[in-house]
Amino acid sequence: MPTPAVYGNWKMNLDVVEAIHLTQQLGVLRRRSPLEHVEVGVAPPFVDLRSVGSVNEADRIGLVLCAQHVNEHESGAFTGEVSLAMLERLGVRAVIVGHSERRRLYGMDDALVASTVARVAGAGLRAIVCVGEDAEVRASGGEEAFVAEQLRAALGGLTEGARGNVTVAYEPLWAIGTGVVAETAQVAAQNHSIRVTLDELGLEAPVLYGGSVSPENAAELAREGAVDGFLVGGASLRAEAFHAVCRAVDDCYASTR
Ligand code: PGA
Repeated sequence: MPTPAVYGNWKMNLDVVEAIHLTQQLGVLRRRSPLEHVEVGVAPPFVDLRSVGSVNEADRIGLVLCAQHVNEHESGAFTGEVSLAMLERLGVRAVIVGHSERRRLYGMDDALVASTVARVAGAGLRAIVCVGEDAEVRASGGEEAFVAEQLRAALGGLTEGARGNVTVAYEPLWAIGTGVVAETAQVAAQNHSIRVTLDELGLEAPVLYGGSVSPENAAELAREGAVDGFLVGGASLRAEAFHAVCRAVDDCYASTR
């Protein structure tokens, strides 16, 4: 059983002062109600990483520092982009790769997702690889085949050394930021199918769910959705809500041991 994990994707929210404040609040909650089994990470905007990392270390909060994106190249003339070495220098240990917003709004195709995953996982950082179907694919019943294809494209060519550094996040597009969380049975079925594909690729990876996760639905999804944790957007911007999601996963894991 992999270590369960919850990662908060702050997206383009929280300036550096707000980011420090949220990190400190998480520190207070985690001291008051410690989490024993679950790994918790946050992915702030690039400009907040340094400060969030410093507070996390100084206050010994124990969060895994994550980035929301990284350029696939080592360095060079890529205006506006950030390299993996730059992130590593700031203590970043995991990177979200191929979030549907990057795929949809910034033209990140399967080939680019694959080369970015290879760069991140090959360097020993965790690549949190996002996959998921849109409403149209779901309506046609092709969601499992679609996600399997995304996984083969993203992970098919990974080197031996990179294979252990992958986490998959299943995030159906119709559930992201909509308040419409996928049904537990839908999550369980897709996660089963994802595990079959990972098996076929010779990969063992934790499988997370993302899309309108909240303190209200986290416990049931953790218990019955066959997930190893969550990638959380909106609810990760509020300390109490994010900690409650982490708490639900921690409790679920504790009771299944
Ligand atoms: P949401 O976002 O929790 O706000 O739906 C999830 C994500 O995009 O990772």
